[in-house]
Amino acid sequence: MVELVRFYKTLPVKIVRGYAQYVWDDTGRRYLDYHTGYGVAFLGHRNPFVVRRVREQLERIWTVSLSFENDVREEALKALSRVLPGYFTHVFFQNSGAEAVELALKAAVRYTGRSVFVALIHSFHGRTLGALSVTHGPKYRKPFEQVLLKPRWVKPNDIDGLMKAVDDSVAAVILEPVLGEGGVIPLDREFIRAAREATREHGALLIVDEVQTGFGRTGLPWAHMEAGVEPDVMTAGKAVGGGFPVSFVAFRREVAEAFEAGEHGSTYAGNPLACAAIVGAVEAFEAERVAEQAARKGGEALEYARERLGGLRAVREVRGKGLMIGVELRFPPGKVLECLLKRGILALRAGATVVRFLPPYVTSVDELHGAVDALRECIASVYG
Ligand SMILES: Cc1ncc(COP(=O)(O)O)c(C=O)c1O
Repeated sequence: MVELVRFYKTLPVKIVRGYAQYVWDDTGRRYLDYHTGYGVAFLGHRNPFVVRRVREQLERIWTVSLSFENDVREEALKALSRVLPGYFTHVFFQNSGAEAVELALKAAVRYTGRSVFVALIHSFHGRTLGALSVTHGPKYRKPFEQVLLKPRWVKPNDIDGLMKAVDDSVAAVILEPVLGEGGVIPLDREFIRAAREATREHGALLIVDEVQTGFGRTGLPWAHMEAGVEPDVMTAGKAVGGGFPVSFVAFRREVAEAFEAGEHGSTYAGNPLACAAIVGAVEAFEAERVAEQAARKGGEALEYARERLGGLRAVREVRGKGLMIGVELRFPPGKVLECLLKRGILALRAGATVVRFLPPYVTSVDELHGAVDALRECIASVYG
């Protein structure tokens, strides 16, 4: 049998089924899933709205290229119009977060004619060469450094540093409203506003990467809305297909119109199953008031986590927004994550020392509190 290239350390749990906030392994054991495949299953596994749309589409057609018109693609565009702020007039579908970031970077180059990017220390934007270029972590970029762009790095929330970095040579500032992989680091409103002002003043674009934060997870439809800014470009992925591999980029009109036909494309872009998944995901988003649920449940969970974990010696900080919760330890979190797994809770690491929960909106407040209690016990059992 051929083997998978070992880019991931696979855990010794064989997951065979999922529903809502739970997954089951091959022995029938149930887990509470706060890993959600790096945040993809934010709408819960097999969300019924998404299942219905994808199932219907399976019986009709799975492949229609963008060279032809297609009904479900039109439906997906209509659905997205209902959940996107009015300043985004265009979208383009992609298949992964990294691809969406690639297109966002290309848009900035095309629109401005410039090649300098400003990105944040601790950022993560993906692993293709362009996305990796604006990703900070040395473990991701070091082996490939010789072929990467060299962005200007700014510390999260360092407004002075940002002001120094943005000048007339900059194509774009790219930021995650809450840095996800880098350690669940929320950006201050003032910082995001400063990024908007500085880019506008210097004719550069503001790209918000909402692949992880978007579609309600932080308690608003899109996390940048909290800062009241209107970015030029936004990337979205993970949650937007309800688990189906699809992403998209949203553009302000002038930026989208800077492209000529043929300057970008993708064989799978706008795939009918992916579009059906988006339609179902938007239906769930609206009918279930997903963003409101994330705000309420996440708010309660964060408060409880601060109360129960904030005073522990091993805990440096508890932070997050909505259902994106990070607990920074004073140690690498590997053993704590193993302990949670043994207790039937899937969680994930962020940065070097952060335990991260990315719960689906369907989870209950009781379950969130239970996971916080389990984390407290795991921290105590590992670090005493
Ligand atoms: C903010 C952000 N951007 C981009 C990506 C890359 O997405 P993908 O793994 O789908 O390529 C991720 C993945 O974690 C992400 O969190």
